[in-house]
Amino acid sequence: TDPALIRNFCIIAHIDHGKSTLADRMLQLTGVVEQRQMRAQYLDRMDIERERGITIKSQAVRMPWAPTEGGDSGTAHILNMIDTPGHVDFTYEVSRSLAACEGCVLLVDAAQGIEAQTLANLYLAMENELTIIPVLNKIDLPAAQPEKFAAELAHLIGCDVEDVLKVSAKTGEGVDRLLDEVVKLVPPPVGVKEAPARAMIFDSVYDAYRGVVTYVKVVDGKLNKRERIKMLSTGATHELLEIGASSPEMTPSDGLAVGEVGYLITGVKDVRQSKVGDTITLLHKGATEALPGYSDPKPMVFSGLYPLDGSDYPELRDALDKLQLNDAALVYEPETSAALGFGFRVGFLGLLHLEVIRERLEREFGLALIATAPNVVYRVVMEDGEEPIVTNPSEFPTGKIAEVYEPVVRATLLAPSEFIGAIMELCQTRRGSLLGMDYLSEDRVELRYTLPLAEIVFDFFDALKSKTRGYASLDYEPTSEQSAALVKVDILLHGDKVDAFSAIVHKDKAYAYGVRMASKLRELIPRQQFEVPIQAAIGSRVIARETVRAIRKDVLAKCYGGDISRKRKLLEKQKEGKKRMKVVGRVEVPQEAFIAALSSD
Ligand code: GTP
Repeated sequence: TDPALIRNFCIIAHIDHGKSTLADRMLQLTGVVEQRQMRAQYLDRMDIERERGITIKSQAVRMPWAPTEGGDSGTAHILNMIDTPGHVDFTYEVSRSLAACEGCVLLVDAAQGIEAQTLANLYLAMENELTIIPVLNKIDLPAAQPEKFAAELAHLIGCDVEDVLKVSAKTGEGVDRLLDEVVKLVPPPVGVKEAPARAMIFDSVYDAYRGVVTYVKVVDGKLNKRERIKMLSTGATHELLEIGASSPEMTPSDGLAVGEVGYLITGVKDVRQSKVGDTITLLHKGATEALPGYSDPKPMVFSGLYPLDGSDYPELRDALDKLQLNDAALVYEPETSAALGFGFRVGFLGLLHLEVIRERLEREFGLALIATAPNVVYRVVMEDGEEPIVTNPSEFPTGKIAEVYEPVVRATLLAPSEFIGAIMELCQTRRGSLLGMDYLSEDRVELRYTLPLAEIVFDFFDALKSKTRGYASLDYEPTSEQSAALVKVDILLHGDKVDAFSAIVHKDKAYAYGVRMASKLRELIPRQQFEVPIQAAIGSRVIARETVRAIRKDVLAKCYGGDISRKRKLLEKQKEGKKRMKVVGRVEVPQEAFIAALSSD
């Protein structure tokens, strides 16, 4: 195709503002999916995505469109719609998808207005110098306030209020006009036809039947079927077994040229061999300079995952291996815990990533798991110059520590202005510092904060929602690290450390953490034959203490001496119960107690 007739665009929208519905409508209007094949949310493939209504993996669809009005009317164009993941954990993938586009549709619910995540992605799009088409969706809703939010969008982007399109993805109203505007406003891709081939990978997905399917945008030159290609970051070479475009089913072709977006298959089995952001070139007469912007995904949040039933350990390992085929950001290594047995320390991009992986392990692989409280990565500088990186709080060094560094993020919060006080108070207690504040409109405000990542990984989002009656939205991106007064708090049962409960917290919060854990455990741990002290300690200094009083448990007491078979049954039962007990030092702790103590309250 002549690059002048190609338009590559994406849709930026907050969850539930109607991106999938709009995409569906576009597929229908352009005729690539026939009415009878249409099912809601055609593009969201994974079950979990559909159920939770989040889009995790980005994809690209090719659609033909001939505008009905204006200078281009009647000329067939190719529109490539590149789907972007919507959640903050996947910012890196969003930025790669944006780099494959020349324009973006900013889709905002006309009854809600713009949200923090959308705003963050809008800024990314602006940095990438994409043409932005502002669109209000759901204008059919009685609660829609198109005039108010059109003014807000115009103010944000710096366009005229009249330039904000108004559509209903549900009824289809205004969607054909939107497609016309995409052709009119989004610039065609530019690239050098004669140059050595360079294509950027913006997504790669593992498919059980076909191996890794890699989504690319060809920037320069051409990739042809059967050619040998080279990955510039690793130098690995592969043969192009299949190349083509999705429309939306995969349709093979002879090759992809300048500006074209499509997929390729090389037979590799692991997405880490086809990394998002990497540049593909040809093995012979290939390019030597990579396209800008590649970086390895970096896990930000760690958690220990343990099978409830220790014999499931091999299954857990296999399941993680399988998930990693499709998730270059997932990292893990085996670890053992005195309290929880054999498991893995798993690294995630963020909390949503963690939740999704956990849910997939439980649902798709039928595993029952215990997860330790999520923690961030700490860089510790020792007085002797050593610099251990700590991903597991129980491995926090004990020697002379000079400094501890923790990751910090730049957070954007959006809310009605009546909640400014509540949000500031919350951020204050989470060790945040205010960077700036802007009014988007009379009654909506944007607050920017620097916050330690550790303060938001656990329950920040829930706290924010409850303090703002659900009206505030949050987005964050990792920025740097800061030195902080952090200490390790250990929890001891009868004098023995329970590794799974160790936590790294700010020294001002250590006491509260210790008291909370100790009292929680006192309620969860059953009485034993002896008294069990529960202590929270920093090093050798005890900061909180509770006691589980002793009992003398006689299971046979109720049997009045007579019935021997009944006695035996009771003894059997007691043995059963013991199996599910974990022993910490001399103390028997039921598995449920660990789970309950590790869950957030
Ligand atoms: P994610 O895939 O989770 O990012 O959400 P999304 O942005 O794709 O939203 P989705 O298309 O799933 O739409 C969310 C809800 O809004 C669904 O219940 C849609 O039926 C509804 N919806 C989407 N567009 C419209 C519209 O124009 N009018 C009305 N009334 N409802 C709409």
